[in-house]
Amino acid sequence: MATGITKREQHSRDAISVLDFYREPIPLPSGDAEVALSYPNKADRSDIVTPTPRQFLTMEGGSAAQIDKIPDNAFILDDNFFVLNQLIGEETKVSLYYLDPPYGTGFDFHSRDLEHAYKDSMGRAAYIEFMRRRLILMRETMAGDGSIYVHIGHRMLGHLKVVMDEVFGPDNFRNLITRRKCSSKNFTSNQYANINDYILFYTKTKSYKWNKPGVEPEQDWIDREYPKFDNFGRRYKLVPIHAPGTRNGETGQPWRGMMPPPGKHWQYAPAKLDTLDSQGDIHWSRNGNPRRKVYWSSDKKTALTDYWDRYRDAHHQTIKITGYPTEKNLAMVKMIVGASSDEGDLVVDPFCGSGTTLHAARDLGRRYLGIDASFSAAKATIQRMRHGLQPMGDYVNGRSKKAENLSLPSAAASEDLPCRFVVDSRILDAYPQEIREISDI
Ligand SMILES: C[S@@+](CC[C@H](N)C(=O)[O-])C[C@H]1O[C@@H](n2cnc3c(N)ncnc32)[C@H](O)[C@@H]1O
Repeated sequence: MATGITKREQHSRDAISVLDFYREPIPLPSGDAEVALSYPNKADRSDIVTPTPRQFLTMEGGSAAQIDKIPDNAFILDDNFFVLNQLIGEETKVSLYYLDPPYGTGFDFHSRDLEHAYKDSMGRAAYIEFMRRRLILMRETMAGDGSIYVHIGHRMLGHLKVVMDEVFGPDNFRNLITRRKCSSKNFTSNQYANINDYILFYTKTKSYKWNKPGVEPEQDWIDREYPKFDNFGRRYKLVPIHAPGTRNGETGQPWRGMMPPPGKHWQYAPAKLDTLDSQGDIHWSRNGNPRRKVYWSSDKKTALTDYWDRYRDAHHQTIKITGYPTEKNLAMVKMIVGASSDEGDLVVDPFCGSGTTLHAARDLGRRYLGIDASFSAAKATIQRMRHGLQPMGDYVNGRSKKAENLSLPSAAASEDLPCRFVVDSRILDAYPQEIREISDI
């Protein structure tokens, strides 16, 4: 409705409120004040990044060899704090961190064969500081154009967002991704059913790697977007042949006696529009309005949004998995690795569990490093990286032929030793038998 006042005038009128009249009784912080969580034993950043050198060994077929440098394409059985701290001195920087740490659930986790995998039972402040220290080390070891994705549940999401703003800077926050983790939940509890978890995506700087990820559209979307069919049965949609903004060059000139609509220009020079028309790629409406035909092709992708509904975790027996608890969806991690790193880059997962990130990184030609403190995780990762995934449960017995195929290694193992196994010398001294068994997998 025409009101006779400009947008600017309208805006300044709307801005008048009683808040201009009153003063806050206790002054608010200044506009540039930062937010930080406060709790006991919050360590100084300088103490966290001070090197605490360790002696790492590679284990091969039961024997240990000393190394000066953490090798690529390896799994390290250790507390990730010490490995991340060691990485500070390494020349190669990390292009991508994906981590799926404990979520602060208060639970213990077991694998499918009931082996204890890991505890998730720190108090709230301890958990936050545990994560903060490691995030500081991750930032320190990231490439200037690197990215970090932190997968987290609803309980600690809010705290972790504040911690990540503190460590990476609020300007480097890119997305809060909501991931639908399961199809249904029991509806007996007296609160809303929880079916999502979250991924906080930050980058080290504003200039970061981004290989724009696309996803295959749903049929519904294709039907809506490309509703028309030509005589050959090809799907298409109609789009305008003009774009906003006036131009003085060829695209601002008349075509077939018509000027572009006011304030617009032709998307193509008149000669190109002639060619499109002669190819039958221009549709003329009954009242003489030209529009361009855009054909559907099966390789078309739609932009991925921050709501991920198609990457649920598959803990059912028709799917190849490791049996490690909280194993993440491989396709989802591959999507992240593809979007935020290039071939040959170093991808690190410091809470690697069953090695999903290492698997994704290797399949996409990235270098990888996985760290986990759990022996069960070490076995699951080494088994997966050296021998492939296994089908789980009754499926193996019930449909033996298909199951045989499923148990083949999933990733081409072109390296001489797919996935090196690295330990701290002190861990080898403390658990010699267990470490040798894992190195023999
Ligand atoms: C949620 S699970 C990760 C699952 C993994 N994303 C997968 O797809 O299998 C979290 C992992 O963090 C590991 N972890 C917890 N604290 C750790 C620490 N300080 N250093 C290394 N690993 C740790 C646990 O042992 C557990 O395997």
